[in-house]
Amino acid sequence: MKRIGVLTSGGDAPGMNAAIRAVVRTGISKGWEMFGVLRGYAGLSTGSMRPLGTRDVSGIIQLGGTFLGTARNPEFATEQGRVEALRHLRQKSIEALVVIGGNGSQQGSFALSETGFPVVGVASTIDNDLFGSDITIGVDTALNIALEAIDRLKVTASSHQRGLVVEVMGRDCGYLALMSGITGGAEAVVIPERETSPEDIAEVFHTAYKKGKEHALVVVAEGAHSNAEALVRYFKAYEKLEFDLRVTTLGHVQRGGSPTAIDRLLGTRLGAGAVDCIDRGEFGCLVGSIHGEVCTTPLSEVVRNKKGLDLELLDLAEILST
Ligand code: F6P
Repeated sequence: MKRIGVLTSGGDAPGMNAAIRAVVRTGISKGWEMFGVLRGYAGLSTGSMRPLGTRDVSGIIQLGGTFLGTARNPEFATEQGRVEALRHLRQKSIEALVVIGGNGSQQGSFALSETGFPVVGVASTIDNDLFGSDITIGVDTALNIALEAIDRLKVTASSHQRGLVVEVMGRDCGYLALMSGITGGAEAVVIPERETSPEDIAEVFHTAYKKGKEHALVVVAEGAHSNAEALVRYFKAYEKLEFDLRVTTLGHVQRGGSPTAIDRLLGTRLGAGAVDCIDRGEFGCLVGSIHGEVCTTPLSEVVRNKKGLDLELLDLAEILST
């Protein structure tokens, strides 16, 4: 009988629980013993694990976050951290590990798999910046939360004829800003992949006002140079707008929601896909979704490559904002 560990690492993402549940239940269906590692790599370094049965993952598919807990654990980047982790894995006779997480977490998976330990990654981050998966677990929920907030903000902004700056998460990736900007009908979207100056953003507000718009919305990615903080500084010091401006930073609100059907399904399919990998002895890979299919990509490629963003959509957003 195989003994398999599963952990969630890095920023939590709605749908992680669905992935854990799928890993545990499909593993048990193969007659394996399943173990949950608590608080990501931090728990691996201290040997914090518990057996997980079918009932232990009951009633979690609809919950955001991760019931195993997660952590950002820079120690795992050190050799000493990995040595400790391996010691605990061997002590508990764990034969393979499933790591559910984003870029930093899959760098950890790669480092572990380079030691010869069998690891399978599962693509999960709200940022959608992970090479090897068109869409990652948590993106759909975070996007819908951002969109709901934008829709609400537009209602109040229109009543007062105000300008809006809404900052969304995404680290260095503009995916969430671009998609929430397009679907929220923004006048402009500011992302790190194609920077926009504060002067150009001011022009967007001036133009919208001259056109007689009831409100003007600019969605900015947290990773852009012209993020909310930079724009507030600029407008205070240099530029008077006709619109009265309000600034909202959505931040972690975006990560906390109950997962959408899409994220529950993606978590379920990718979690089951990770167990299939272990079953056929395929390790050192990331399980992701490419063109709607569950696919694997070697972790060596995942950590080496940067995922691109379709900038034609930014051009489209500009055309539609008139
Ligand atoms: O990677 C997910 C993410 O939410 C990013 O969008 C954001 O920059 C970061 O995590 C925030 O990290 P923390 O939760 O550690 O503050």
